[in-house]
Amino acid sequence: MKTEHFAKHNDPGLISRFLRLSEDRRRRMTIEDIRPECRDIHSRIVGLLHEVYGAQRGMRFSKSIHPDGFEFFASVVQELAHLKRKINFLEIGSFEGVSMSVVSALLDAQGILGRLVSIDPYFEDGYQEDHPATGSVRKDSTETTMSAALKLYELLGVDVSLMRVTSDVGLRGLLCADQEFDLIYIDGLHNGMAPTVDFGLSMGLLAEDGVIILDDWPWPDIIGLKALCDQHMQLIAETPDIAAYRRLPER
Ligand SMILES: C[S@@+](CC[C@H](N)C(=O)[O-])C[C@H]1O[C@@H](n2cnc3c(N)ncnc32)[C@H](O)[C@@H]1O
Repeated sequence: MKTEHFAKHNDPGLISRFLRLSEDRRRRMTIEDIRPECRDIHSRIVGLLHEVYGAQRGMRFSKSIHPDGFEFFASVVQELAHLKRKINFLEIGSFEGVSMSVVSALLDAQGILGRLVSIDPYFEDGYQEDHPATGSVRKDSTETTMSAALKLYELLGVDVSLMRVTSDVGLRGLLCADQEFDLIYIDGLHNGMAPTVDFGLSMGLLAEDGVIILDDWPWPDIIGLKALCDQHMQLIAETPDIAAYRRLPER
C-alpha cells in the first residue's frame, strides 16, 4: 500500500507529524490498492452513497470508503474470518453510516455477518469537537444525518440496531444486558475522557479473540490508549490514523 507509515506511539514528534499528514494521501490511492476480491463491494457502496447523498459528493466521505481505510477494514475482516463464527459488530459513532456499511458488507461477503449495533446520539444541533490542529469544530450529526444513515442501511439490506444515546449510557446498557461483541470500532467523541471511557467499557464487552479498533489514534486523548494496546494486545492492522488490536487470551 502506498501510504505514509509512522513509528510506534512513543515516537517523539508523532502527534505533530500526524497533524501535518498530507490530506491528499487518500486521493493518491486508487481502487488498484484494494484487494481484487473486495473491489465490487467497494464500488457497490460508493454507488449507494451517491444514491443517498448525491453523486456531487464524489469521495468526500469518511476514511472507511477511501482505498486506504477500506483496505484496512478488509484486512481486519479477513483476520476475523479465521475465528469461524458469526461476528457481532458494535460501532461507537456511526455518523453517515459509511463505516457501518463497509464493515457489514465485508462481513457479509465472508459469510460471517452477525448482529450490528450502532451507538450514536445524533444530536439536536450537532456537536463540538476540539480538533488538535484546527481547534473547536462544530460537527453536523443530527436527526437528518441519522435518517440518511438508516436509508443507506436499508438500501444495503442490513439490519442495524441503533442506540440513540451517548456512548457511556449505551455501553453501560449493553454491559448490564450481558452483551458480547467480536468487533468494536471506537469512533465517537475524540476528546477528554470520552475515548478512555469508551475503551474501558468496550473491553468489558469484547469477546475472547475479539478485535477493538481505535480511530484517530494519534489524537492527544487517544494516543495513550494505543500505548496500552501495543503493550497488552496483538496489533493486527494499522494505518497512520486507525489501529486494530486482538484481545489476547487471559493468563
Ligand atoms: C467521526 S464520526 C463517525 C464516523 C463513522 N464511524 C464513519 O467512519 O463513517 C463521529 C460520530 O460520533 C458521534 N458522537 C459524538 N459524541 C458521541 C458520544 N458521546 N457518544 C457516541 N457517539 C458520539 C457523532 O454523532 C458522530 O456521528
